[in-house]
Amino acid sequence: MIRVAIDGPAGVGKSSTAKELARHFGFAYLDTGAMYRACAWWCLHQGIDLDSPQIDEQQITETVGEFFTDDHFDISVDPDRPIVLADGEDISEDIRSSEVSTRVSRVSGIIPVRHVLIAAQRAYIAREASGDSFSQGRGIVAEGRDITTVVAPDAEVRVLLTAREEVRQARRSGQSAQGVGAEDVAKRDRMDSKVTSFLTAADGVVTLDNSDLTFEQTLDQLIALVDQAIEEQ
Ligand code: DC
Repeated sequence: MIRVAIDGPAGVGKSSTAKELARHFGFAYLDTGAMYRACAWWCLHQGIDLDSPQIDEQQITETVGEFFTDDHFDISVDPDRPIVLADGEDISEDIRSSEVSTRVSRVSGIIPVRHVLIAAQRAYIAREASGDSFSQGRGIVAEGRDITTVVAPDAEVRVLLTAREEVRQARRSGQSAQGVGAEDVAKRDRMDSKVTSFLTAADGVVTLDNSDLTFEQTLDQLIALVDQAIEEQ
């Protein structure tokens, strides 16, 4: 079982690279950002006001807690079909809408909410060690802002994927599917970095700056790191 943890700010291509890496090795893939997005979607769906300057953190934490403990939430760890479900409804597209993208930091910035999600993410990762899991015990690639430091600090491969700010902005402004502009992305990174540190690598975390690398070159470097970890096992 190999656990690959990939951190990094918006606009470095974390999701597409992590997904392709998982496909390459037959590993599961966990998009933890999608989990935070699903929580924001669920809160909005429950009529919670996420725009108010004084959001009700306790109400949001309880609502998110119910989302997980009452099994309303589900996510597929198949990198070819990474769908997110709420009460069986596919919300994969809805969670990328600007309605959610511009408000998700309000939810992910609440520390007790993070504790609920961190526990759920650790459970998804641990599940992959079993032979009847998606990867049949081979491994998992998990990506998000605090994976290398908080969720899976003991992962076999830990990478901080980064790029120069202007490169990230340029990549993000081309991604209208996320429903937010480059300025919003920079603002969100600033908000997110108040609760998670994803701009500098923690001890033992490999920094991979892909500003001047193609997608394939980035992927090749990650594949080499995973190959090395497999050899060392
Ligand atoms: O990676 P993304 O844009 O889908 O992430 C959505 C939001 O969730 C973003 O505001 C950062 C936050 N997030 C987080 O705080 N911790 C994670 N592990 C993943 C995402």
